[in-house]
Amino acid sequence: MNNVYTHGHHESVLRSHSWRTAENSAGYLLPHLRPGMSLLDVGAGPGTITADLARLVEPGRTTALEASEAALDITKATFADLDVEVEFVVGDVHALDIPDDAYDVVHAHQVLQHVADPVQALREMRRVCKPGGIVAARDSDYHGFVWYPLLPELDEWMALYQQMARANGGEPDAGRRLLSWALAAGFEQVEATTSTWSFTNPEDRAWWGGMWADRILKSALADQARAAGVAEERLQAISAAWRTWAEHPDGVISILHGELLCTA
Ligand SMILES: C[S@@+](CC[C@H](N)C(=O)[O-])C[C@H]1O[C@@H](n2cnc3c(N)ncnc32)[C@H](O)[C@@H]1O
Repeated sequence: MNNVYTHGHHESVLRSHSWRTAENSAGYLLPHLRPGMSLLDVGAGPGTITADLARLVEPGRTTALEASEAALDITKATFADLDVEVEFVVGDVHALDIPDDAYDVVHAHQVLQHVADPVQALREMRRVCKPGGIVAARDSDYHGFVWYPLLPELDEWMALYQQMARANGGEPDAGRRLLSWALAAGFEQVEATTSTWSFTNPEDRAWWGGMWADRILKSALADQARAAGVAEERLQAISAAWRTWAEHPDGVISILHGELLCTA
């Protein structure tokens, strides 16, 4: 099963993922959480969302799951400074080493777009969720991103990202497909919604644009692009375009996401 994680774990990637909170990334799930629920966060990454979710379900237990020990070490590092109890496990969402009906809530943020078989991933998430519990997922949809000004190098960035993510067996336009994946996985009660992140003021633009200016030169995506023969000059041009975009006083970007709330 081809299952390469496109972004890797470079600092420029973690800078993006550590900004995430339950409020800005899991708002659709929050009204359904109650103290005492047990929760599994699949592909927890730097774990900032996991930490927020864990606080909301305490004294229920929360488990952070990552694909490798190295990735899980990044999750653990976040919790070293926090007063929140979480269990840590390594696993693959396609075949979880977790008994049936183990959790009230099984959550995955920006994970299904990276896996080889998102339908199988959802089946596994359902299997480890108690009957009547919640399986929740949110994924971005790259072709649903809208920005201004229309710099040609940002179209080049989009084409490159689509190509690399697909070469790794992922689906960068996952957001629009979540409902179809949930139905294919056998869920009967599904609520599908969408939401956006938007970056429209100087600070937010500097953060998003600066982060992608670095990622396109320094992250696993950059290494993969070089290995595929993309010229250094093109990567530099894309990086410069993100900085130009960030400095534009009229620069805006809207990042579309799909969301799923499924009853197990
Ligand atoms: C884009 S990150 C999202 C991290 C976190 N959920 C967040 O939103 O901040 C995707 C995470 O999924 C993990 N991942 C990728 N494939 C996986 C798999 N097959 N099983 C479990 N986790 C996986 C990666 O290691 C990575 O940390």
